[in-house]
Amino acid sequence: MLTNTATRYGALARFFHWAIALLILSDIALGLIGENTPRSADTAAGLQTLYSVHKTIGVAVLGLAVLRILWAILQPKPVPVHPERKAETLLAETIHWMLYGAILIMPLSGWVMHSAETGFAPILWPFGQNLPFVPKSEDVAHMAGAVHGLSALVIYAAVALHVAGALKHALIERDGVLSRMLTGREAGIAGAAHGSVLPPVLAAVLWIAVVAFPFVMPAPERPEGIGAPMEQAQVSSDLPVWAVDQGSLTITVTQMGTPVEGSFANWTAAIAYDEETGTGEVTVNIDTTSLTLGSVTQQAKGPEFFNTETYATAVFTGEISRFDGTSHEAVGALTLVGQEVPVTLVFDLIVEGDTATMTGTATLDRRDFGMGAGYADEGTVGFAVGVATALTATRQ
Ligand code: HEM
Ligand code: HEM
Repeated sequence: MLTNTATRYGALARFFHWAIALLILSDIALGLIGENTPRSADTAAGLQTLYSVHKTIGVAVLGLAVLRILWAILQPKPVPVHPERKAETLLAETIHWMLYGAILIMPLSGWVMHSAETGFAPILWPFGQNLPFVPKSEDVAHMAGAVHGLSALVIYAAVALHVAGALKHALIERDGVLSRMLTGREAGIAGAAHGSVLPPVLAAVLWIAVVAFPFVMPAPERPEGIGAPMEQAQVSSDLPVWAVDQGSLTITVTQMGTPVEGSFANWTAAIAYDEETGTGEVTVNIDTTSLTLGSVTQQAKGPEFFNTETYATAVFTGEISRFDGTSHEAVGALTLVGQEVPVTLVFDLIVEGDTATMTGTATLDRRDFGMGAGYADEGTVGFAVGVATALTATRQ
């Protein structure tokens, strides 16, 4: 029979239970393996596949969970088999409600995290990667990740207690509780009372606390260096000096064939430039610890790439010259991870009154800086790194 009665689970409820149980347990295993795999060139491709499968299974759980919950609402809920054991029934039913919450919150928080960050490990379902209303934002991804991680702890405990309970019924009490879910056998007496409204209320309160926790806790201290005032870049020149009012400095890396964009939040530039001759000088100091690069920020800052613990600052100095109308170039050198490499930044510069607007790009080759030596081909991380900058500056 497809439907439930007061004393048995119908085939559809059992299908939902075991399908979701199997998928959830697989996803927990994949999540744990992923979490405990060291990040390196050797593991990058495997980790991408692992997380793609993890996310794809998780999204399937979400779909099944919605159907399951709709079905459960329409169905009679089988009575507790031992209604006289008040505390045990309360515990068992609270855990069931926790698990119902988990099958929504776990995949949703995962999907929000995935949607808010760029790059790495796509979901394999054909209906898009991103959730509506979720902005691309490092902060949102961080919060969703914190909810995902904390909920994982809740689900470990809930599943452990739930399975221990099921085994106790099956092996010690042999009272038909497990076979009620396995084979659809009847157990319990119709008309027995459920554990009141307390179990769903308790589960809801616990879940609200878990989801709210990362929002009410103060954000962890940022690692030293991030956001720290940088040494103001200097140029020694007799030409007019321009102060940067605002600007952005972004990089684009190709990861597994997909462009991932990141940016440096903290940098300063000193610009001397003469409109008449179209010449000048520029120095840019970049706080490499302020880099964010989608889901791979930590790897990018790690010893294999920007090595920000040892090299917290990168410096570009260049000679500016105009070659056509608003087109300019700054020919100079970029010192990054201790390597000084010739770099040319090509940019457009428009001066209106005392305000200058500039947009420019350069392409670097990570191998010139010895970055990602372990990633010898372009399969995981491309060689070319695009740099783009846009700023407005005021004549001093
Ligand atoms: C059934 C649903 C899911 C379960 C039970 C689950 C479970 C887990 C577990 C146990 C971990 C490791 C713990 C941790 O890193 O703190 C994890 C990590 C992760 N999960 Fe899920 N997950 C689910 C769904 C999803 C979905 C739908 C996505 C994305 C679309 C996702 C994305 C991730 C990511 C990116 C990580 C790594 C987080 C990091 O390293 O910071 N998960 N998940
Ligand atoms: C292999 C592990 C599992 C076993 C042996 C197991 C066993 C059972 C049993 C015997 C019941 C029926 C309890 C009763 O009749 O009162 C049940 C119900 C339930 N299980 Fe599991 N379960 C397992 C894994 C899971 C997982 C991973 C989830 C996570 C979503 C889950 C969620 C639920 C829920 C929500 C109910 C309540 C169903 C309802 O009454 O609406 N189970 N489980």
